[in-house]
Parts: sequence; C-alpha cells; structure tokens
Amino acid sequence: ASFLVLHGPNLNLLGTREPDVYGATTLAQINQALVAQAQAAGHRLEFLQSNAEHLLIERIHAAQAEKVDCIIINPAAFTHTSVALRDALLAVNIPFFEVHLSNVHKREQFRHHSYFSDVAVGVICGLGASGYRYALDAAIEHIK
Ligand code: DQA
Repeated sequence: ASFLVLHGPNLNLLGTREPDVYGATTLAQINQALVAQAQAAGHRLEFLQSNAEHLLIERIHAAQAEKVDCIIINPAAFTHTSVALRDALLAVNIPFFEVHLSNVHKREQFRHHSYFSDVAVGVICGLGASGYRYALDAAIEHIK
C-alpha cells in the first residue's frame, strides 16, 4: 500500500523549536524512521513538509491520482485555522490520521479546536515523535 505523511508549518524546525514542547527529534529523523517502518511492512511512504497551505492542499490533490491509501497529517497551526485543508482531505476521500507531538488539550484554549478531528479516522496527540510511529501502525492496520 501507499502512505503519505504531511507536516504543516514550522515543523521543519523540529529539534530546535521549543524542544520542551516538541522534543529533540528532528523532522528528518521522524521521516527516516517512518520510511523504514513502512518498507519493513512491505509498503511505500512519501512525505512532505510545507509552510505553505496551498502546497499541502495540492499534495493532497495529487495523492488521489497516485492512489495513496492513507494519509498521516500533522497540520500544525493549520489544525486550528484551515477549512481549506480540511476540505481538501474530504474532497479526495482518502482516510487520514491526525497527529500532534504535544498534547494540544493541555495547552492554550485556541489549540483545543481542530478542523480535522471530527473527520479523521483517529487522532494521536501528546506522545511526541512516537505518535507518528503509532499512527503508521494504525494506518497499516486500517487499510488491511
Ligand atoms: C502541533 C500543535 C499545534 O497547536 C502547533 O501549532 C504546532 C504543532 C503539535 O504537533 O503538537 O505547530 O500540531
């Protein structure tokens, strides 16, 4: 099967960005581990990080033509703002899992609402970089 992992704005700074909140693992380390995890299970996995909403939207559109089976997305700050990204995921009708490194529910009020959670297969938050590993496990299980 084919998986796509999408990372939203500022996640390119993982490792140095507020490490007390987001941990010390870099995005490159996260992506590398996910590719290895997918390959070990006989699957393909691609990833994209962008600070630009339209690039994430266009990558989601392309995923439909590529017959991606499942998406894992950390929309980052777009979680709390982007109807457009939500609509893109609904438009392509590809099941997706929402991941957050931090536990958004124990942070500021404005992080408590997500435009994605009610249409995601599942949501993982507060488990740091390991959350991506759990999400890929769940995604592999989901598409069986
Ligand atoms: C985040 C949580 C968001 O509120 C924040 O804007 C991020 C990262 C997380 O992974 O914990 O950029 O999605």
